[in-house]
Parts: sequence; C-alpha cells; structure tokens
Amino acid sequence: QLNKDVTYGQFYSFLSCLQVNQCSGWITSNGTLRNLTTERAMQLSNVLKEIAKSEKYANFDIFYMDFPLKEIIVMWQKMGGEIWQLLEPMDGFHPSQFASALEARILWKKLLQERPDILGKENPFNSEIAAIFHGQGH
Ligand SMILES: *[C@@H]1O[C@H](CO)[C@@H](O)[C@H](O)[C@H]1NC(C)=O
Ligand SMILES: *[C@@H]1O[C@H](CO)[C@@H](O)[C@H](O)[C@H]1NC(C)=O
Repeated sequence: QLNKDVTYGQFYSFLSCLQVNQCSGWITSNGTLRNLTTERAMQLSNVLKEIAKSEKYANFDIFYMDFPLKEIIVMWQKMGGEIWQLLEPMDGFHPSQFASALEARILWKKLLQERPDILGKENPFNSEIAAIFHGQGH
C-alpha cells in the first residue's frame, strides 16, 4: 500500500524467501507449480469424494461438494460483477466475501435439494422472527 508498487508476485516471493509462505504451491507466480498443486488438490478431493460415498461413520456423516467456482462466476457475472472481485484482495487467493456469499447460497440450495436432513426442521418461530426483525432477505 505504501508506494502502491508491490505486485502479488513480489509479495509471494518475499513470503517464500522468509519461509513463511502458508501455501507455497498456490501462492506463487510460478504457473507450473500452481498447476501441479491444483492437480494434487484434485486428486485429494477425489479421495474425499470417494470416502464420502463409500464410508459410514457412527457419530458423523460426510457430505461432499466441489467448490462451485464455475457456478459462482456465472452468478456473479449475471449480477454485473467482474471475476477479479471474487478473489480476496488481502491475499489475491482466497474467495472474497462476494464469492463466499454466493457459495453459501449454492450450498444451501444443494443441501435443500439433496440432503435436507442435514438442515433439520424449519424453525417454527420463523414468522414471529420475521415480524420482529423484518428485511432478513426473505
Ligand atoms: C496451467 O494449466 C492451465 C489450464 O490447464 C493452462 O492453460 C496453462 O497453460 C498452464 N500453465 C502452465 C504454466 O503450465
Ligand atoms: C516452477 O516450478 C516448477 C515445479 O516445481 C519448477 O520445476 C520450475 O523450476 C519452477 N520455475 C521457476 C522459474 O522457478
């Protein structure tokens, strides 16, 4: 921010140089390394997807959902947004508040359709809550 002349690439190299880069596979300007990291991440996600399908646990349940990046981008562009706004400017890497809000909307809809049991019963006091707190997005 000081002179507005530091790029993300330089910042990422600085973090790596200090050996404090919390994700050196993705927080890097090296596209080859980012691609290799993505490939490995997809392999690991597939393992989790497989576990969610095949394993049952006594005390918890697993619901697997891919991070819906493409759906988020489409929704955001329809709302007139730019793709870069979906990245958190603090690190140029994580989903921004906009992306997280859209992800929550997509996740909620998917759970309602596929696993409503996870969400439980509707709150019987919803109409009273709405009467008191109006404008809660309904
Ligand atoms: C990384 O992967 C993307 C998508 O497959 C590809 O377009 C891009 O050229 C790759 N970049 C490098 C540096 O390998
Ligand atoms: C980018 O990362 C790849 C994979 O780790 C490595 O082989 C290559 O040397 C790196 N390129 C640069 C310019 O550091």
